[in-house]
Amino acid sequence: MQKVAIVGAGRVGETTAQILAEQETCREVVLIDIREDVPQGVALDIFQTAPFFEFDTRVSGSNDPAAMRDADVVVVTAGVPRKPGMSRSDVLGVNLKVIDGIIDDVMQFAPNAIVIMVTNPVDVLTYRVWQRTGWPRERVLGQAGVLDASRMAAFIAMETGFSTRDITTIVLGGHGDSMVPIPRFCTVNGIPVSQFLSEQQIEEIVERTRGGGAEILALRKNASAYDAPGASIAAMVDAISHNRNRVLPSVAILQGEYEEDGIAMGVPCILNERGLVQVLDLGLSDDEQAMFRESAAAVRHDIERIPLA
Ligand code: LAC
Repeated sequence: MQKVAIVGAGRVGETTAQILAEQETCREVVLIDIREDVPQGVALDIFQTAPFFEFDTRVSGSNDPAAMRDADVVVVTAGVPRKPGMSRSDVLGVNLKVIDGIIDDVMQFAPNAIVIMVTNPVDVLTYRVWQRTGWPRERVLGQAGVLDASRMAAFIAMETGFSTRDITTIVLGGHGDSMVPIPRFCTVNGIPVSQFLSEQQIEEIVERTRGGGAEILALRKNASAYDAPGASIAAMVDAISHNRNRVLPSVAILQGEYEEDGIAMGVPCILNERGLVQVLDLGLSDDEQAMFRESAAAVRHDIERIPLA
């Protein structure tokens, strides 16, 4: 892949750029931010790690949205993070204004790009990208599930002592308190986690996963999580740039899957160079479907707060 543009050179954007460069996921990473000199400084700092990590990915920064021209993937991390005590929905009003401007820039300068939305509330803002661009859902994704699933895997590793390499987890739904971790699909190298953990331990891990972002925010106080979010975004970009057909939980526009339509939610997706090639409908149990529906209601509540187009 030639070029990835990251809009927003805050901590999440910076971490993502560093990982993409280190892994040589693409030839060029451009960081774009409205703060004067900041993206240029961040980009220089990252590129100066090239001698250590031996990468040839070029990293640059700009205040000009035209710098995203012809990017293959545009990652949107710009906007304000929530403060401790706030929900992700509390930042919708302010971030919507920021995102609308960015969507217009993407349509002008990178009209063939695959967009990965990261800014919160991510489900609603992914929906906004789809609505405002009018693009096919294949090119409009959001990052949440990879992060939520990685948090769940980390908690299972901490509880069982097993290697995270062997742990597979799946988290569906909105990226909020009503997200839907699905323990029956969680395994240690194919062995159901229920073999190793009690029902109560699993329930505690599910709850901790739901509050995973808030836990870090409460501990760090001045910052939301950014290391695992950056790694999660990089995993999605890698699946696209290497045409891997990976199955990654992503925010996608639903068109009948999971009994939902015209909403953006976290679901297992097949990702390759075309973006989202398929949403995998898992066939949920009644209880799981009820949780999914409840999560959808929370997302829809916020979608109804945004003005048309
Ligand atoms: C989190 C925020 C960034 O989950 O949504 O850490």
